Amino acid sequence: MAVWRAMWALAAAGAALGAPAQTKPEAVIHYRQSVMTLIGWNFGPLATMVKGKAAFDAREFARRAERLEALAPQILEGFAPGSDKGAETDAKPEIWSDFDGFKARLDDFAEEARKLVETTHAGDEAQIKEQFRKLAASCKACHDKYKDD
Ligand code: HEC
Repeated sequence: MAVWRAMWALAAAGAALGAPAQTKPEAVIHYRQSVMTLIGWNFGPLATMVKGKAAFDAREFARRAERLEALAPQILEGFAPGSDKGAETDAKPEIWSDFDGFKARLDDFAEEARKLVETTHAGDEAQIKEQFRKLAASCKACHDKYKDD
């Protein structure tokens, strides 16, 4: 939790000091869409396994779960103040008008990703799949509220 606050303070301080070239709203928007693309890229094969459309591969599952966990703390800086517009985006204005609510969804996601990695270490397939569904629900909870279709 403290980490989020510190990162946010840094992002806010950066904005107050005047945004350097790489933090133009357009760049921030592209950054967050790229992180989400990476998340989707790693999430997809896991969903396929959980649905039983591909054989369950414990090592592959663990590898991609670890990537999701590592990507979680990289999301917040993609929503820096002033990045509500500047490029085509599906991010809703509610993200910035209800930033605490948005961060709560983000914390939930990070927590579910962390737990998913934990279950892959324990190695129980049913438990891994159940935790994956909780992670998927945390994506949906944020998208439903803060992302346009
Ligand atoms: C805390 C909120 C939040 C969480 C959690 C979240 N997303 Fe997103 N996601 C967004 C928002 C907001 C956008 C729209 C970004 C934009 O267009 O600027 C987005 C966009 C996307 C995109 C489209 C990227 C593009 O090409 O523009 C994909 C794919 C995606 N998310 C997948 C996922 C998956 C899979 C998960 C869970 C494993 C997830 N997201 C969790 C908020 C979230």
